[in-house]
Amino acid sequence: MALLLSLTSSFHANLRKARGRKAAFLRMGGILLWLAVTACAQSTKISAVSAINDPALDPRVESILKQMTLEEKVGQLVQYSAGQPTGPGTGRTDYEDMIAHEQIGSLFNVVDPHQINAYQHIAIEKTRLHIPILFGLDVIHGFKTEFPIPLGLASTWDPTIVEKASRVAAMEASADGIRWTFSPMVDIARDARWGRMAEGAGEDPFLGSAMAGAYVRGYQGSRLNAPDSIAACAKHFVGYGAAEAGRDYNTTEISEHTLRQFYLPPFHAAVDAGAASVMSAFNNLNGTPSSANPFTLKQVLRKEWGFRGVVVSDWNAVGELIPQGVATDEATAARKAFLAGVDMDMVSSFYHDQLEKLVTSGQVTQAQIDEAVRHVLRVKLALGLFEHPFVDEAGAPKALYRPESLELARTAAERSFVLLKNANGTDGKPLLPLANTSQNIAVIGPLGDDSSYSNGAPPGAGPRTSLTSALAERIGATHISRFKGCGILDATNDDIAAAVAGAQKADLVIMALGESPDMSGEAASRAHLGLPGRQEELLEGVARTGKPLVLILFSGRPLTVPWAFEHVSAVIAAWLPGIEGGPALVRTLFGDVNPSGKLVVSWPRSVGQEPLYYNALNTGRPPGDVDLTRPPADIVARYVSRYIDEQNSPQFPFGYGASYTSYSYGPAQISTRSLSAAELNMKLHSNAAVMTAEADVTNSGSRTGAEVVELYIRLQGTSVAEPVRMLKGFQTVTISPGETRRVKFELTPETFAIWNAKNQFAAEPAKLSVWISPDSAHGSATEAEIVP
Ligand code: NOJ
Repeated sequence: MALLLSLTSSFHANLRKARGRKAAFLRMGGILLWLAVTACAQSTKISAVSAINDPALDPRVESILKQMTLEEKVGQLVQYSAGQPTGPGTGRTDYEDMIAHEQIGSLFNVVDPHQINAYQHIAIEKTRLHIPILFGLDVIHGFKTEFPIPLGLASTWDPTIVEKASRVAAMEASADGIRWTFSPMVDIARDARWGRMAEGAGEDPFLGSAMAGAYVRGYQGSRLNAPDSIAACAKHFVGYGAAEAGRDYNTTEISEHTLRQFYLPPFHAAVDAGAASVMSAFNNLNGTPSSANPFTLKQVLRKEWGFRGVVVSDWNAVGELIPQGVATDEATAARKAFLAGVDMDMVSSFYHDQLEKLVTSGQVTQAQIDEAVRHVLRVKLALGLFEHPFVDEAGAPKALYRPESLELARTAAERSFVLLKNANGTDGKPLLPLANTSQNIAVIGPLGDDSSYSNGAPPGAGPRTSLTSALAERIGATHISRFKGCGILDATNDDIAAAVAGAQKADLVIMALGESPDMSGEAASRAHLGLPGRQEELLEGVARTGKPLVLILFSGRPLTVPWAFEHVSAVIAAWLPGIEGGPALVRTLFGDVNPSGKLVVSWPRSVGQEPLYYNALNTGRPPGDVDLTRPPADIVARYVSRYIDEQNSPQFPFGYGASYTSYSYGPAQISTRSLSAAELNMKLHSNAAVMTAEADVTNSGSRTGAEVVELYIRLQGTSVAEPVRMLKGFQTVTISPGETRRVKFELTPETFAIWNAKNQFAAEPAKLSVWISPDSAHGSATEAEIVP
């Protein structure tokens, strides 16, 4: 049976519609046309786009702007952290006084609604123009109801879940008075050493774009001015994830081609979905800091994409232009950031201290200040802050930890788990799922008692159940024994021998190993990707008992544990699964749910392979049939692109995830073997389906499962070399045992367009290969061509 395209595909259809409309608008330069187009728009996404781009905001923006003094205008461009700092230094602390003098446009990190209202009262009641303060926070994977970290959320391959999770986050955060989140992080991450891989959707621009749009739609809702909507912020613009050596804040070198083809698309998708703000990044990009980069901020973001929201710098990024070496004084740093297109200065205070002087000296014009202020006012107006500046202080508790939100957190966690291995036990059957019998289980490892599994919001008062407690609830506490075995980094109470002895007495062992939550996220790069502390020793000691062993890895990145993948029967990547992680894991272990998550990053065998990503270019010396498991034995085996001491392939490829059932894939069938580049280019950004690709997927196992079906292409013979595979579609299909579903993808002209040698987005004549496969490393290609 041909399946309708999933929500993912309809997302892309909407995206294409929105881009098409915007292009038409730009061509004809007609506000009336834009109005007509947006008025006709059906989907919630389009209305979110119109919220920030709504021309109806313009007269209101202008009317406020013309009443403002220069000092008041500069005030709108200044932001401070007034709570728990999320970076070094806080600029100023006399916020009340500054607000009363209209010197602050936004505050963040304030989480007490009473405090938020107190500041807002000053802004509304004690200032001449009563411009409300915009309150922000890093609401990364939920506010109080903590969802899996974004890497886990992306592993669901389900933008609908991501959209729903961000909707819950918006409802909870807005009930607290927060109307701006610094999320989503849409940085492409190809290097697991970089701790912020945890905060994004992985290495692929297509999947990353789908997730970016989903976050924005969830946060901003159907109307940005609804009281429970919050402004999204696509960050970190741009290339931040390509930090050299995976070390956070480090320099990046990215060609314009690679920037456009891999790093920019998720930002473009966020902007197309209506993101109200973008954060300029810390990194040097090809020698120019991203927070002083007019090419990315002005040319790409404003001119090419038509972004009308606000650009906020990252924490002190304006100040950091001095150590980065492009300014030797505050005035120059402020001028460079401002003229490059950074509207709002987060924390550094350089705008507060320097912008007026820069106007007086003629280095910055009034018109340029006005333009930046317009962006800030536009966001505040779009949010309805002028009409509703205060938060109902009694309202927050009702919004937090709603049963349906917790249920969603549990579902999201269940869908985020990636079953990496499930080998047969001694009975000849796969170890998982566990039978519901009263066996004695030893829970071993430092992460068995974590109750939030989060590296985001600080623990709130909500319900939370650790893996050990959830297991005890399931099979009775008397059947559970618990041994920490060792710490993660702190070895003071290590007792590996007791844990091994405990394992001996149990029927089955579940090990909860991995990273502590603070080992991923910002400023948490790692040079070693194995299990920290003595956990590997603990694992090997316990495994030697010969007891059936399930390993649950908690981490913000893939971990290199080759020994475990060889010797342990069952391994689940649980990421940091959030507040419902414990119960979700237990339901997965016992088979109430069948794992369906798939990797959104290539899982390395060893750290030396990093950066490692599936959508890489072929070299002139690909290894071919050479046996890469052994050191090179002769010239043929040696002079190819390889390591002499490691395989090229990842431990598990991008897109991989096992299940309690199995699937078989039929060959991809395509509707045409020949496409015309000229025709594709004529139809670019239209919604036209120029090719369909379909394949039969059969559930060959004995359980119903949800399979993420992936579509990849390769182009050869193009003006620039293209990756060995590129993801261009995905759908999740639920298939009963023995059932075959025909999965169909409709491919549009954009599928086949590349950023060519002239850095133009266009289709070119090429040899075309199409795969419909379970991951990025398997399946056989169906060949076609793109003729001129
Ligand atoms: C620095 C981080 O890079 C950024 O992602 C975050 O939004 C800000 N700090 C504010 O906390």
